[in-house]
Formats: sequence, C-alpha cells, structure tokens
Amino acid sequence: MTIGHSGLARLAAAPDAASASSAPAGPYLLEMKGLSKRFGSVTAVSGFDASIAPGEFVTVVGPSGCGKSTLFNIVAGLEEPDAGSILRFEGKGCHAHELLGKVSFMPQRDLLLPWRTVIDNAVIAMEIEGRSRKASRAEARDMLPEFGLAGFGDQYPHQLSGGMRQRVALMRTFMFKRELMLLDEPFGALDALTRTMMQRWLLDVWRQHKRTILFITHDVDEALFLGDRVIVMSARPGRVKLELKVDLPRPRSAELVTSPEFIRLKRIVLEAIEEEAMKSFLASGAAAPQTDAMPEVQP
Ligand SMILES: Nc1ncnc2c1ncn2[C@@H]1O[C@H](COP(=O)(O)OP(=O)(O)O)[C@@H](O)[C@H]1O
Ligand SMILES: [Mg+2]
Repeated sequence: MTIGHSGLARLAAAPDAASASSAPAGPYLLEMKGLSKRFGSVTAVSGFDASIAPGEFVTVVGPSGCGKSTLFNIVAGLEEPDAGSILRFEGKGCHAHELLGKVSFMPQRDLLLPWRTVIDNAVIAMEIEGRSRKASRAEARDMLPEFGLAGFGDQYPHQLSGGMRQRVALMRTFMFKRELMLLDEPFGALDALTRTMMQRWLLDVWRQHKRTILFITHDVDEALFLGDRVIVMSARPGRVKLELKVDLPRPRSAELVTSPEFIRLKRIVLEAIEEEAMKSFLASGAAAPQTDAMPEVQP
C-alpha cells in the first residue's frame, strides 16, 4: 500500500479525527479517555478516546503494531493502562482488572485445545466459571447448528476446516454471555471466500444475540461491511485517527461492497489508513517509495 507525496501532503492537511462526533449520543457501555500504554521504551497506545454504545458493532482498523491488540488486552482486563487513562464501563469509572470476566474476548491467536472436542472447547469459559458441565454441554450442543457445526460436536480441532475452527472459537466467545464482545482479527487467517461467508454469518448471529461488538481487522472492506462505525487508528503510538459512521442499510448483502456509498466510505478510510501505514513504514527506517509519476527525462 503506497501513496504519492502529493497525496501525503493533502492528507497531512486534513484535520485529524475528522468526525469524532460520529459516535452515537450516550449512555455508553464502554468509554475510553486518554488511554495510554507503554512497554519500556515503546509507547503502544497514547491518548486513545472512544465511546461505544450498547448494541453497536464497532470495527477498528490500523497499521500493524499500532496497539490494537494492546487496547483489547486492556478492555479485557488483562493489562492495566498507564496512569491518567480513564476507563468507564456501564457508566462507572473502573480499573482494567475489574473488567476481567465482564467482557467476552476472542484473542488474536485463539487456539483451540487439540485434545478437546468441539463441545468441550466451546464450554471452557463456562467450566472455569464453575457452571455445571452437563448443562453447558447441552447448551453447546443446541448451538451447533447456528454456528455451522451441526454433527461436529464430538470431532477434534484437527478434523475441522479453518473456517469451522474459527466458528468454534466464536461459539466459545458467544457462550460466555457478556454484553460486550471483543474480537481480535477473528477472520485474519481465512481465505477470501470463507471470510466473506463468515462475515455475513457473524452479522446474522450478532442480530440474534443482540451483543455489543468491538472487532479488530486489517481489512477495510471487512471493517465497513460489518461496522456501524469504523475507528481508524494512527500509527504507533495508537490513537484515534478517524471515526466514521457507516450508514449502510442492514441486513447487509454481498452486493453492498460495490455500491457507490460503500466505495465512497472505503476511499475515506483508505486515505486515512494509508497515511498511517506510510508513517509506520518511514518510522521503520525505510525510504519513502516514489509513487508519483516523475517527468520523463530525455537524453
Ligand atoms: N506485553 C508486551 N510487552 C512489550 N511490548 C509489547 C507487549 N504487547 C505489545 N507490545 C508492543 O506494543 C506495540 C503494539 O502491539 P500490538 O498491540 O500487538 O499491535 P497491533 O495489534 O496493532 O498489531 C508493538 O510494538 C508491540 O511489540
Ligand atoms: Mg494485533
């Protein structure tokens, strides 16, 4: 992904976080204000502000290494943010560790346990909570068809396709019934076709289960296709570069991605993300690629 210098200059002139007002009015389920996190000399996230309303599907895109997973680790309660960061959940200020167990979280590398069947992988969180194994298993078995796993409950992960394994991990996350779900690049490793099918399927499941979803992706099409709102993060240290409301009708169908409105929104997100990708690229010590056409010099 490259942009020319004239494009960079134009983007640099554009105001940052152009439409911070695209968030719906409160009350919010989750509020993050001035969220920052340093690891030694690396500042992963700095001054991240966003508010998520109940029932929203918010997608987060940003260059690799900009702090997306760090942000999720904080909201999942696994990592404390630095002093001065403000977190509010259900209207009350809180420490990150107080959120542990209050949100359901599918980490970027959510490995299924190879020695456990589909059902036994799906019920892990409930088992840890001390719920009855028998009741959890019965509930998981009932959910199999909805997750495209009918007849596969007693299979082991190695017997499943990549898409099916992701659906088991998603089923586990949905079964841990919390209003807020964090999904960190859940379809990142899937081929394009499977990925498109999984996106449509996830929207159906989301509609049925009425949860609030924060979803990280590298893929701008995916971010727009799924989200009510897209948050574009800056290069590290990550903060909000742009928030964009995605006013596309639901239910969303495959044709949507070729509609003029989708393409208009995609252009806005791509411009923001490409500028940030270029910053990360330059920060890594690489020379800027020359993509603007140079005048031909005749000998
Ligand atoms: N536990 C950690 N210890 C030290 N550095 C970390 C840790 N977690 C993340 N980082 C660093 O923070 C930055 C952001 O990482 P991450 O949040 O994984 O980015 P992303 O998910 O956007 O690719 C990276 O430079 C990464 O190396
Ligand atoms: Mg990540």
